[in-house]
Amino acid sequence: MTPFPPLRRRTSRHWTAAVLAALLPLASHAADTTPAQLVSYWSVQAGAPANAARGQAFFTTRHGGEWSCASCHGAPPTSAGKHAGTGKAIEVLAPAVNPKTLTDTARVDKWLRRNCKDVLSRECSAAEKADVLAYLANLK
Ligand code: HEC
Repeated sequence: MTPFPPLRRRTSRHWTAAVLAALLPLASHAADTTPAQLVSYWSVQAGAPANAARGQAFFTTRHGGEWSCASCHGAPPTSAGKHAGTGKAIEVLAPAVNPKTLTDTARVDKWLRRNCKDVLSRECSAAEKADVLAYLANLK
């Protein structure tokens, strides 16, 4: 009996860990969440329940700048949007119509960071995210 495992086994464990670490970033691009999970995540972060009506007002209001969320996504965002700056087509935002949206945490984080800065000149708060995601998740 040796107090340590044989060297060969330790090496192969190392390999397994390295391969898993290399694959994880790939996995994070796949669907890893649902609209309902995103709403409950951000409600917990905000410490208050989400309010879809408040989210709708947030979505359609300009917050002191040139654009609202609706400027690019339409209101309600149940058909294709159009970028208010470039005119480029934007996929339908409502998950009821486009089931791919609000299913990828990294993608949602990335776009909310960018879009909130465009509209509010700052990142959205947890409560604002919870409300606007509840509005989007509840669209028919
Ligand atoms: C200047 C145009 C513009 C504005 C304003 C805008 N967005 Fe977007 N948004 C986009 C584009 C472009 C995408 C990427 C969609 C695509 O690839 O078709 C996107 C994607 C998103 C996504 C990711 C959807 C998914 O899961 O794939 C969310 C959520 C989102 N926007 C929410 C908002 C909210 C909330 C606001 C208001 C704070 C907002 N957007 C304002 C252009 C805009």
